[in-house]
Amino acid sequence: MPEKTPLLSNLAETLIGSEIVRMNGEIKEKMKKGEQIFNFTIGDFDTSIFPIPIELEEEIIHAYRKHFTNYPAGEGEPELRKSVAQFIKERQGPEYSLEEILIASGGRPVIYSAYRAICDEGDKVVYSVPSWNNNHYVHFVKGHHVTVPTSVKNHFMPTAEDLRPHIAGARLLALCSPQNPTGTTFSKKQLEAICDLVIEENARRGSYEKKLYILFDQIYWQLTFGDIVHYDPVSLRPELKEYTIFVDGISKCFAATGVRVGWTMGPEVIISKMKAIMSHIGTWAPLPEQRATSKYLMQKWSVDNNLRQFKSSLHDRLVKIHTGFLHLKKEGYPVDAITPQGGMYLSVKIDAAGKHTAEGSLLHDQSDVTRYLLDEAKLAIVPFSVFGTEENVPWYRLSVGACKIDEIQDMLNKLKSALSNLK
Ligand SMILES: Cc1ncc(COP(=O)(O)O)c(C=O)c1O
Repeated sequence: MPEKTPLLSNLAETLIGSEIVRMNGEIKEKMKKGEQIFNFTIGDFDTSIFPIPIELEEEIIHAYRKHFTNYPAGEGEPELRKSVAQFIKERQGPEYSLEEILIASGGRPVIYSAYRAICDEGDKVVYSVPSWNNNHYVHFVKGHHVTVPTSVKNHFMPTAEDLRPHIAGARLLALCSPQNPTGTTFSKKQLEAICDLVIEENARRGSYEKKLYILFDQIYWQLTFGDIVHYDPVSLRPELKEYTIFVDGISKCFAATGVRVGWTMGPEVIISKMKAIMSHIGTWAPLPEQRATSKYLMQKWSVDNNLRQFKSSLHDRLVKIHTGFLHLKKEGYPVDAITPQGGMYLSVKIDAAGKHTAEGSLLHDQSDVTRYLLDEAKLAIVPFSVFGTEENVPWYRLSVGACKIDEIQDMLNKLKSALSNLK
């Protein structure tokens, strides 16, 4: 029998859908049947716990009432690009002209168009694992995946030593801090060493050779905890301004995932091409939301106040769960967790493969453990393998975007009891 002819493009036939969305479908089915599930899988917010700032909401309503409902400017409304430039300069440091800033409908179109603008088929793209969605974007451009494993010792952030063997000839280095899925960040030293590696590599390349760019995803950068400071390549090494494309926006820092306003800062030559790519797919942020965001970003008191409260609510939840995991570890359960540094995620370890359930069935591998956690502890979390690690890595991403603080103890009790039943 001849093989079935594919109906669609090679891209469409080979694209992998989101594993997290699939898991969520299953969880929702269980919940519909009345099961109580502690759903810590999604990178989104429960709006009854984390609504967008009221001042932003009011600006959006006001913009619609004013009928700002036309096509926005392809590069984004000048008012918003001005606000972004000022916001970044005041809060982060680097200075960007309006021509070096592009507005999009969230972070995703920024990432997609950056990949499209920089990479040709077969180009080497270096990214560490676990990391968020780089595998899919590399697939889009038919790039050559260079995945770099990371270690718990470095909080699953890549180091210059991890990256060094893979940098020669690479076209794009994708970095993210605070990182999805780990909730950890680059230290100054770590990121400086990576920056120096890129500078060294670009200096080594002849003028005829294409350069290495950094795609620096800082969509969670306002959400750092305690003494943790957010570092970026351009503030640390200004000469990297020529080679760095930022991914940024309001989705995470203002719990505004559905508002769809993102932006990028980068070299004008690349930004203008990204704008052209986006104009063909129409991934502009809606005009009323652009107008509203440009006003909101300049409301310093409200932004500071909202961020303070929001960060503290996320941090309280993360710390409570982290502490609970460390208690279980002390009591001898096969679990661990990494101190949360930023974002909305916690890295937790549940190392139960090879154990037997009370009914005597063997948990062969990590996917059996994931299923056991869902069935017995009613705990839904995302295995790191979804973010590109090997299948049997016992670490998970736990998201607190939909976490009610008074459910945490309940969840920990259920987890303890499920683990106690294992032999
Ligand atoms: C690291 C990272 N970058 C970018 C995005 C995309 O954000 P947006 O919802 O603005 O497209 C996400 C969303 O989960 C993310 O986790």
